[in-house]
Amino acid sequence: MKRYLTVDDIGDLSQALKEAAEVKKNPYAWDTLGKNKTIVLIFFNSSLRTRLSTQKAAMNLGMNVIVLDVNNDGWKLETEFGVVMDGDKPEHLREAVPVIGRYCDIIAVRSFASFEDRDADYEERILSQFIDHAGVPVISMESATRHPLQAFADLYTIEEHKSKDKPKVVLTWAPHPRALPQAVPNSFVEWMKVADVELVVTHPKGYELAPEFSDGVTVEYDQKKAFEGADFIYAKNWASYNDYGKILSKDKSWTVDEEKMALTNNAKFMHCLPVRRNMIVTDGVIDSENSIVVEEAANRVVSAQVVIKRMLESLN
Ligand code: CP
Repeated sequence: MKRYLTVDDIGDLSQALKEAAEVKKNPYAWDTLGKNKTIVLIFFNSSLRTRLSTQKAAMNLGMNVIVLDVNNDGWKLETEFGVVMDGDKPEHLREAVPVIGRYCDIIAVRSFASFEDRDADYEERILSQFIDHAGVPVISMESATRHPLQAFADLYTIEEHKSKDKPKVVLTWAPHPRALPQAVPNSFVEWMKVADVELVVTHPKGYELAPEFSDGVTVEYDQKKAFEGADFIYAKNWASYNDYGKILSKDKSWTVDEEKMALTNNAKFMHCLPVRRNMIVTDGVIDSENSIVVEEAANRVVSAQVVIKRMLESLN
């Protein structure tokens, strides 16, 4: 495996889920695979789960880990091309990426959507610099358009908790005070379309995802109707794609609450975290026994470890 950016990069999902189960059962079975190999984790944006789980996964495989928080640890990096660099950014990504590639065997990078230019975000202009110039395999730890380590962990969590072969999985938009990227819902939809689930997406009008993700997906604008009979409720906020990066609604009637959960088939509640309580979801739902958000976050180690393991196996 040379890159991990989209669902296509993981290959056969049932094989990936089988491998995830093996890794979860015996996380130290490959603890010499990464001996004398180094992974650099580069963050252009904040993180709790992604940083710790990816580091833990690499350590389980015996790797050396270097973490670089671009905004606090190094030179500020210029990411635009053709600019006169007379501002506060003394180094360009174009040099930094190949240099970092010389110090490691795998690079993992987090770089969110800027919301300044939809084309630039959806062309993944920063991530593609790493793919084109790092010279080593690249893992997305959330890019402008996708969060594949999260989606893999989400699917594995559903697999662990499902009580029927083809569960009904509902992705619901929920309100949030800030404009959030579409990466998590995009990846969730991308993965669930391939998985053996009945996927329904519900959101207010205006929050349609980009066509490359939403094509072929059932969208139900009535949230309560969408929740009927659901086995999993996956809540997430995202900003508008069509009116790019804008908040069109903060309507708290979309908050996931006990009354709506009562319409489901005793559904499990999921969220990628961090979550705004009593905006996205009520305390009562997230604190209920049906909430599996912590197990979901714990499975981020599993998804990262499968991906890094595959990359190490392709290096050796
Ligand atoms: N879910 C997730 O990616 O969490 P962090 O932003 O804390 O890494």
